[in-house]
Amino acid sequence: MAKQFDVLVIGGGPGGYVAAIRAAQLGFNTACCESESYDDPKGEVRLGGTCLNVGCIPSKALLQSSEHFDNARHGFVMHGISTGDVAIDVKTMVKRKDNIVTQLTGGIKGLFKKNKVTLLPGHGKFTGGGEDGWEVDVAGEAVTAKHVIVATGSRPRHLDGIPVDNKLICDNAGALAFDAVPKRLGVIGAGVIGLELGSVWKRLGAEVTILEALPEFLAAADAAVAKEAWKVFTKKQGLDIRLGVKINKVTTGKKGIAIEYEMGDESHVLECDKLIVSVGRVPNTDGLGCEAVGLQLDERGRIDVDDHCRSNLPNVWAVGDVVRGPMLAHKGMEEGVMVAELIAGQAGHCNYDAVPWVIYTHPEIAWVGKTEQQLKSAGIEYRAGQIPFSANGRALGQGETSGFIKMLADAKTDRILGVHVIGTNASELISEAVVAMEFHASSEDIARIVHAHPTLSEVMHEAALSVDKRPLHF
Ligand code: FAD
Ligand code: NAI
Repeated sequence: MAKQFDVLVIGGGPGGYVAAIRAAQLGFNTACCESESYDDPKGEVRLGGTCLNVGCIPSKALLQSSEHFDNARHGFVMHGISTGDVAIDVKTMVKRKDNIVTQLTGGIKGLFKKNKVTLLPGHGKFTGGGEDGWEVDVAGEAVTAKHVIVATGSRPRHLDGIPVDNKLICDNAGALAFDAVPKRLGVIGAGVIGLELGSVWKRLGAEVTILEALPEFLAAADAAVAKEAWKVFTKKQGLDIRLGVKINKVTTGKKGIAIEYEMGDESHVLECDKLIVSVGRVPNTDGLGCEAVGLQLDERGRIDVDDHCRSNLPNVWAVGDVVRGPMLAHKGMEEGVMVAELIAGQAGHCNYDAVPWVIYTHPEIAWVGKTEQQLKSAGIEYRAGQIPFSANGRALGQGETSGFIKMLADAKTDRILGVHVIGTNASELISEAVVAMEFHASSEDIARIVHAHPTLSEVMHEAALSVDKRPLHF
C-alpha cells in the first residue's frame, strides 16, 4: 500500500523545505523527500540543500573568518591597533563552518517535526499517476500525493576535460573544505562563486588568478558598480582577474595543475596548486522520471513553469534552481511559499521584479531592479542619483569608505526602477530598496523618510535626494 500525502515535495533545499513547512502550516498532510547526506558523519540525509550544506551558509562563514583575518593583518592598523604576527588555523576555521552547517541543517529537521512534515529519506522519481494523484518512488517505496512540488535544485556545471575530484580540482563543495591555504589558487569563472571564494583564499594568503571567458567583468551588474568592483578587487586587493580567456587544456602533474589558455592572440599557461571551477550551475532533473509522466523541460533543461510555478502537468509544481529565474535561495524560498499558498487556494505571490542580488565580497555588492544599461536599451527615461560612502560619517568612522549607492527612478513618475550598492553592508542596505520597490515607492518617498544618524542608511537617503539634485551632504 503506497504512502499517501496531500503534498509531496521532492528535494529538501531552501525551495523545498520552505514549501513543505508552509504547506504543512496550511493544514496539508505533507512529506518531503531528500536524497543527499552531504558527507554527514552518520550518513543521514541532510536538509537545507546546496544553500545550507555547500553554498550560501558555509561560504558566508568562511568569508567572515577570512575578513577577520584580513582586518587583523591590514585593517586594524588605521585604528591604532597593532596585532603583531597573525596566523590562521584553517582546520579550526573550517570546523567552525562545519558546526554552523550542522546546527542549521539539524534545525530544519527540528522545524519539520514541529510542523509535522514527514521526511522521506531517498531519491524521488515520478512513476505515473495524474491529476487525482501522482505516483512517486522514493528509495523503492511507493508514495502518492495529490500535489507534487519539484524542488530538486542544481549542481555545479563541470567542463569537458577538467575532471573535478574535489581535492586538486574543486567545485563549490571542495572549495569550501580546503585543509590548508593553497600557495597558488586558480579559478575558472569570475562569477559570484569565483569572486566570493577567490576572496576568501586571497585574504588568507593565496595568490589568486581568476580566468573568465567573457570580455566584460560582472556583466549582470550595473556597469558603474562593475567598474568600481574591478578597481577595488584588482588594484587594492590584488585579485588577478583575466578576462576574455579561452581554456584549452588542464593537466595535473608533480608541479601541480597547469592550465593552458588563450587570451587575445596569445597562448599562456597558468600553474597553480588548487583549481576551483565555478562556471555556473545546471538544473537537477536526471532520474526524476520526467519522461514517465510527460513533465516538460525548457530549452535549458529546467522544468518549464509559468509565473506561478505551475508545470505543464496538473498539480505538479516546480520551484527554485530547477526552474527559470536567478539561482538564489531567497527566490526559491519565496516560490515555495507561493506554491503552497496557491495549492491552498490563496493568492500566492512572488514579485520577480524585486528579487535582490548580493555578492558577499568586500566591499559587498547588492542590487535590485534594473541596471542603467537595461533602462537605456529599453528606452526608458530615468533620473539617477549617486552618493559615495566616503561622504558618510558612519562609513568614515568604520573606515569603510569605498563604493557608492546609485538610485534610478522613472523620469516622469519618479517610481524607483533600480538601486545599486557597492559598499560595506550592501547586503543589509539593499532591503530598504527592496521594500520601496515592492510598494512602488518613488525616490521622493525615500527622500522624505527619517533615516537614523549616523548610519550607513543615510547614503540611501542622500542617493534618493540626489535623484532630484538636492543632496544635503554631498
Ligand atoms: P538546492 O539547494 O540545490 O536543493 C535541492 C535538493 O534536492 C538537494 O539537496 C538535492 O540533494 C535534492 N534532490 C535533487 N534531486 C532529488 C530527487 N530526485 N529526490 C530527492 N532529493 C533530490 N544563494 C543566495 O541566495 N545567497 C547566497 O549567498 C548564495 N551563496 C551560494 C554559494 C555557493 C557556493 C553556491 C554553490 C550557491 C549559493 N547560492 C546562494 C545559491 C543557492 O544555494 C541556491 O539558489 C539554492 O540552494 C537553491 O535552492 P533549491 O531548493 O532550489 O535547490
Ligand atoms: P556564475 O554564473 O555567477 O558565474 C560563472 C562565470 O563563469 C561567468 O562569468 C561565466 O562567463 C564564466 N564562464 C563560463 N564558462 C567559462 C569557461 N569555459 N571559462 C571561463 N569562464 C567561464 O556562476 P557561479 O559563480 O558558478 O555560481 C553559480 C550560481 O550560484 C550563481 O549564478 C548564483 O545564482 C549562485 N550563487 C549565488 C551567490 C550569492 O547570491 N551571493 C554566491 C554564489 C553562488
